[in-house]
Amino acid sequence: MRNWWQQAVIYQIYPRSFADSNGDGIGDLRGIIGKLDYLAGTLGVDAIWCGPVYPSPQVDFGYDITDHTAIDPIFGTLDDFDALVTAAHARGIRVIIDLVPNHTSDRHPWFVESRSAPDSPKRDWYVWADPLPGGLPPSNWTSEQGGSTWEFDEPTGQYYLHSFHRTQPDLNWRSPRLRAAMLDVVRFWLDRGVDGFRIDVLHMIAKDPELTDNPPRPDATPNPADLQHPDYDTQWHVHDRMHPDLYGYLAEIRDLLEEYSRRTGQERIAIGEVEPMPWDSWTRFLGSELDGVHFTFNFNFIESPWHAAGLRASIGAQEAALPRGAWPNYVLSNHDRPRLATRNGPRSARLAALLLLTLRGTPTLYNGDELGLEDLEIPREEWLDPLGRDQVRGPMPWTSSRNGGFDSSPADASPWLPVPTRYLERSVERQLADPGSILNLYRRLLAFRRTSPALLRGEYRPLDCPPDCLAYLRSTPEQTLAVLLNLGAENATVDVPRPGHALLSGDRTPRRRFVVAAHEGLIVQLEPEVP
Ligand code: NOJ
Ligand code: CA
Repeated sequence: MRNWWQQAVIYQIYPRSFADSNGDGIGDLRGIIGKLDYLAGTLGVDAIWCGPVYPSPQVDFGYDITDHTAIDPIFGTLDDFDALVTAAHARGIRVIIDLVPNHTSDRHPWFVESRSAPDSPKRDWYVWADPLPGGLPPSNWTSEQGGSTWEFDEPTGQYYLHSFHRTQPDLNWRSPRLRAAMLDVVRFWLDRGVDGFRIDVLHMIAKDPELTDNPPRPDATPNPADLQHPDYDTQWHVHDRMHPDLYGYLAEIRDLLEEYSRRTGQERIAIGEVEPMPWDSWTRFLGSELDGVHFTFNFNFIESPWHAAGLRASIGAQEAALPRGAWPNYVLSNHDRPRLATRNGPRSARLAALLLLTLRGTPTLYNGDELGLEDLEIPREEWLDPLGRDQVRGPMPWTSSRNGGFDSSPADASPWLPVPTRYLERSVERQLADPGSILNLYRRLLAFRRTSPALLRGEYRPLDCPPDCLAYLRSTPEQTLAVLLNLGAENATVDVPRPGHALLSGDRTPRRRFVVAAHEGLIVQLEPEVP
């Protein structure tokens, strides 16, 4: 028997864009509550990860927090949050929330106090450093938003570190009092019943205390699968993150989760959000005794080239890298990166559904991918996010009427981001009425996955197949499935090791050879092995 998070399909909700309950054009907690029946019943996911809803000036859309233990009024109240947890749990849905340990907003009272004087009792809650001779910043580190990570604070004569926007000063996890304060934050939400945390940029919470310069990266090429400022890639980010002290800080968080899991009988988890990195660094977050995070989001998969060989290599690499007892996971989109249907073309979306939901491990599905949504196209001068990530954060189209039923605003109001006609054409309402829609494919796959021992816990074994195809077996003693995916533009013929019949499709004739249409896939149930 596996733990809940190993069986679960996690659904990422971007709260601003999911559902607006009060007509101000911004999604909110009551909006999410109103869609729980969709999530639990219509779609059939097991857990939600709800992005940050804490009070924030929204410079980084909630990743710039001013109070870790409250709810921003644009999203609702603490009562709404409690109601969300209760209503989700009543439907068997777990709730994972963001923990943002690396930085706060510069308007957080902690930072206001830290900044007030060099001898402030909270000075060391943030990373402050003296200028180099000539007043230069303490190191050459560059930020994802462009420019230096250091901001000079005139009144106190020191620089503060901000790995992201200058209004997001980095916290100093070397301070025991800061760590204690952050563990109190974790306790606060555990006491309200949350099932886990997605830990934002976990790899960044400890930096080189000597502030050594990062080496230059002369061959810098911007990464098309990520949205970062070109400055960011001009150096190798070796000293501004990944300092080994962070594993000890992570262990403190995990110990607290274990304490709650034991005491309440409800297993609470930690998911690490770390940038793509070599597998041996990536697995280190699991802890030497699997006492770190439960898993680390697999962004290497997002960055895998979208062809059969690339995906096969990426799957095999994760399988090979995981230590004994560790559990794989797969991610294909999120709120920071171009959507999969934009990255890999709209024809990739159905195949991506089959892939994500049939591999060994926990899938995380980004809201809107179940509709095959592509990015919004917003001209640069209208970007609200400095990195243009608004384009991957478009409102969910629930119906085909005005604003996609995302909000209930008066006729002259509009949502915080536009809902284009092509989104209305892909609305939940319209796709539910079309048996061949991608949403109905997701629904069938999710329903099947729940009852399939091979998909929930079977082994993964790649199968020989034509070059444009990706084929693998998922098997337990009671069930063997072959998943046949054709990434090519022509039909392909794939053989399976024993006779079997296609599932979730009309033709159930047992055979050993299957024709898989271009950009499509099949799940084949093999007949039991004759001893
Ligand atoms: C990762 C989050 O996913 C992203 O949206 C945010 O801008 C950075 N971390 C900083 O918190
Ligand atoms: Ca609202």
